[in-house]
Amino acid sequence: MKVLGIESSCDETGVAVYDTDAGLLAHCLHSQIDLHAAYGGVVPELASRDHIRRLPLLIRQALAEAGLAVGELDAVAYTAGPGLAGALLVGASVAEAFALSLGVPALPLHHLEGHLLSPLLSADPPAFPFVALLVSGGHTQLMRVRGVGDYALLGESVDDAAGEAFDKTAKLLGLGYPGGPQLAALAETGATGRFRLPRPMLRSGDLDFSFSGLKTAVLNVVSADDWNPADAADLAADFQQAVVDVLCAKSLAALKKTGLNTLVVAGGVGANRCLRANLDAALAARGGRVHYPEPALCTDNGAMIAFAGALRLAAGERRLSPPAVRIRPRWPLMELRPPLAAAD
Ligand code: KG4
Ligand code: ZN
Repeated sequence: MKVLGIESSCDETGVAVYDTDAGLLAHCLHSQIDLHAAYGGVVPELASRDHIRRLPLLIRQALAEAGLAVGELDAVAYTAGPGLAGALLVGASVAEAFALSLGVPALPLHHLEGHLLSPLLSADPPAFPFVALLVSGGHTQLMRVRGVGDYALLGESVDDAAGEAFDKTAKLLGLGYPGGPQLAALAETGATGRFRLPRPMLRSGDLDFSFSGLKTAVLNVVSADDWNPADAADLAADFQQAVVDVLCAKSLAALKKTGLNTLVVAGGVGANRCLRANLDAALAARGGRVHYPEPALCTDNGAMIAFAGALRLAAGERRLSPPAVRIRPRWPLMELRPPLAAAD
């Protein structure tokens, strides 16, 4: 079965084709970074308009790359939430209309499920069950994953997400958008150990996170009279290490609690090299293994949506309600259920 996947929840327009027999046939992406850079963050209205401009071209490009005619598609999957309402509406409208015109099912998908399952697209995929650490711009969650749609929340951030903390701290240090990768790059040129930053909720006894205090601690350092901007790289390194220490400790605690030894890391912050090095070492020490998506699939993309759609379609999922453009800008992942076949 061949599924076209459309991702438009934030500042990336992604279109891909996944074939349940042949794997990923096409993966096209347009990043809006240049569009939003002048504003220091994503401007929702500009994001929506750019998705409108890009989607038709990217769909044509993906079909050409896959060597498919439109009539050969078996379904159109799209991100229905969570995300920016206007941006989601663009992808949902295009996907629903396209699927209707082809007479194939449209599959409204959860963005985080896409991220969560994306490491399964790698050459050496993890087997269920596993613990997933989802670290994106909007979410920081630890989850026990038994199968597609079978997710149990173990812990999550009570305030800022890890990516959000990276982005806000990058702003405090005068770095541009997108802040996370720039802060990580600066941290790699600095040394840890000069600034004593907190490890929030490290000993809270649960699997929840909190990152807003860490950001405030950085604010206090840069607002002090004796702050020297030449020390920004060292401060970035200490900030990054503090986030990584907490993410590592809680991930290990989640593995211990569930008795599992496989960790899957997904979402944009999963691209962070310091996080990867620390998690790899910690899991290797206990005979476990960490799985990541391929580097190109760490941030938002259409491949993860095409893939999650194909898994659900292959498991027999069909739309139960008539075609409609429905989006969920806020949508708890825990509401998902395993694929549901139509009663026909
Ligand atoms: O998953 P994603 O692409 O989009 C969301 O669904 O949020 O994640 C984007 C987040 C941003 O906050 C970005 O700053 C962060 O991931 N990020 C990083 C790195 N690359 C992206 N944070 C730390 N280190 C990185 N290398
Ligand atoms: Zn994402």
